[in-house]
Amino acid sequence: MKLPTIFSLTVFVLLLGFTITPADAYDPLDPNGNITIKWDITQWTADGYVATVTIFNFQQYRHIQAPGWTLGWTWAKKEVIWNMVGAQTTDQGDCSKFKGNIPHCCKKDPTVVDLLPGTPYNQQVANCCRGGVINSMVQDPSASVSSFLIAVGSSGTSNKTVKLPKNYTLNAPGPGYTCGPAKKGKPSEFFTADGRRKTRALMTWNVTCTYSQFLAQRTPTCCVSLSSFYNDTIVPCPTCTCGCQNNITNPGSCVMGDSPYLASAVASGGKNNYNPLVQCTSHMCPVRIHWHVKLNYKEYWRVKITVTNFNYRMNYTQWNLVVQHPNFDNLTQIFSFNYKSLSPYGPLNDTAMLWGVKYYNDLLMAAGPLGNVQSELLFQKDLSTFTFKQGWAFPRRIYFNGDNCVLPSPDNYPWLPNSSPHRRAFSIFQIITTALAFLLSFMWI
Ligand SMILES: *[C@@H]1O[C@H](CO)[C@@H](O)[C@H](O)[C@H]1NC(C)=O
Ligand SMILES: *[C@@H]1O[C@H](CO)[C@@H](O)[C@H](O)[C@H]1NC(C)=O
Ligand SMILES: *[C@@H]1O[C@H](CO)[C@@H](O)[C@H](O)[C@H]1NC(C)=O
Ligand SMILES: *[C@@H]1O[C@H](CO)[C@@H](O)[C@H](O)[C@H]1NC(C)=O
Ligand SMILES: *[C@@H]1O[C@H](CO)[C@@H](O)[C@H](O)[C@H]1NC(C)=O
Ligand SMILES: *[C@@H]1O[C@H](CO)[C@@H](O)[C@H](O)[C@H]1NC(C)=O
Ligand SMILES: *[C@@H]1O[C@H](CO)[C@@H](O)[C@H](O)[C@H]1NC(C)=O
Ligand SMILES: *[C@@H]1O[C@H](CO)[C@@H](O)[C@H](O)[C@H]1NC(C)=O
Ligand SMILES: *[C@@H]1O[C@H](CO)[C@@H](O)[C@H](O)[C@H]1NC(C)=O
Repeated sequence: MKLPTIFSLTVFVLLLGFTITPADAYDPLDPNGNITIKWDITQWTADGYVATVTIFNFQQYRHIQAPGWTLGWTWAKKEVIWNMVGAQTTDQGDCSKFKGNIPHCCKKDPTVVDLLPGTPYNQQVANCCRGGVINSMVQDPSASVSSFLIAVGSSGTSNKTVKLPKNYTLNAPGPGYTCGPAKKGKPSEFFTADGRRKTRALMTWNVTCTYSQFLAQRTPTCCVSLSSFYNDTIVPCPTCTCGCQNNITNPGSCVMGDSPYLASAVASGGKNNYNPLVQCTSHMCPVRIHWHVKLNYKEYWRVKITVTNFNYRMNYTQWNLVVQHPNFDNLTQIFSFNYKSLSPYGPLNDTAMLWGVKYYNDLLMAAGPLGNVQSELLFQKDLSTFTFKQGWAFPRRIYFNGDNCVLPSPDNYPWLPNSSPHRRAFSIFQIITTALAFLLSFMWI
């Protein structure tokens, strides 16, 4: 390609990138991912209604881990919550106007959380009481739903007078989700356990919430380091990826692994605190993924992946990785991780979701000697595309728990011995791919 062509192509790509950047969240690897909250009114009461509220996690790999979801909304009128089963509000609010029967919650903007495991059976409903933990669609579809019952008073008592709650907020457990308005639709249908009778909700509305990493956290949360058998260089995570170690402007932002204050610093924040307390490293990320190109056989090659937790305050339960590499269409064997191919764009089979084996390594322990999990992947070479040159053997993109991890700059990738550092012919291609990667990373912000 001649330079002007490349230039205009880049400009076109830039324009394209900026014009189609949506205001809301968009993840190219899970384009339809969302969390849908469905309200089904199943009964009208003297002053309101009883509804079943169900939270569906329709995301391939993003899950909600401890301390779980928090759901809020604003009532349209002067509604109160008489009772809840399978969940509770965090604050009763001011119910002093009521004599006799006292509502469960009188707040205009209630905040609801799931009950904990071990709740007595008579206070449970199906899919409740998991401490707000919801798995992803791929990892465990049967645990990707959460629900509770709510009895609402002082509201309308028919589908003509009920006003839908507004301004839904979902924390899972921190920020990151944006919820749209409630939309009334076709009433849900329910089947009895034996499937012989069908019932219908009296009224149904849905709310859809989508995730944006940019809303969740301004800084990245994970990074990638690289190494290979053919070069001794270990390419570390870029310095200051997730923050900078600075005792003057930001004291206490990290702790040394051997600090005598470690135990008290960890204890002071409480467990599974949303704000990480990281071990001091040059990258300061809570999580690092290391990709090591380990062996080269005639027809196969082997990669070792290590995920290391540097966060003293978080045990990552049901963690997952999403990895993009062109050779995933010929993954032959994977050790000690579960695997599923994700094909968001039909035939392109270059993206894989990896997660831990239940009871073996599905828990990535907090920072320390046990804070890592690892696996090896064996790929079959497609001899027409396979090469160790120009960083081909390294991943194109890695997500940890649905968040994009920062890769080192391609300029620093380990070289093959004898490969010339004069890579000018390649660098124009690199400029374009870097520009594209840069734009793609904007498109889903
Ligand atoms: C939410 O996700 C489901 C399942 O992928 C999809 O059918 C639905 O259209 C999505 N809703 C929105 C509003 O994107
Ligand atoms: C209320 O429900 C009735 C019966 O299902 C239906 O015909 C009517 O359209 C509904 N009204 C509204 C405002 O949804
Ligand atoms: C919606 O909720 C947010 C956060 O709870 C609040 O800041 C905002 O004022 C609310 N908006 C309305 C219209 O109630
Ligand atoms: C609400 O969402 C659920 C789950 O995606 C879907 O089955 C149902 O058809 C939706 N209902 C309405 C009224 O949009
Ligand atoms: C920060 O302070 C700790 C101990 O006080 C020290 O070991 C470390 O080297 C300091 N880091 C920087 C970047 O100055
Ligand atoms: C992580 O799990 C281990 C073992 O269950 C527990 O001892 C430790 O306190 C947990 N740490 C955090 C930060 O929750
Ligand atoms: C993608 O490749 C893997 C590994 O060869 C294979 O198991 C899987 O079925 C492929 N998926 C699709 C959608 O082609
Ligand atoms: C995997 O590699 C073999 C050998 O190169 C090739 O015949 C086959 O088509 C490849 N499979 C896929 C799904 O690309
Ligand atoms: C290994 O790769 C680095 C680039 O990351 C390069 O500077 C170095 O010369 C390479 N070593 C050998 C032996 O080729």
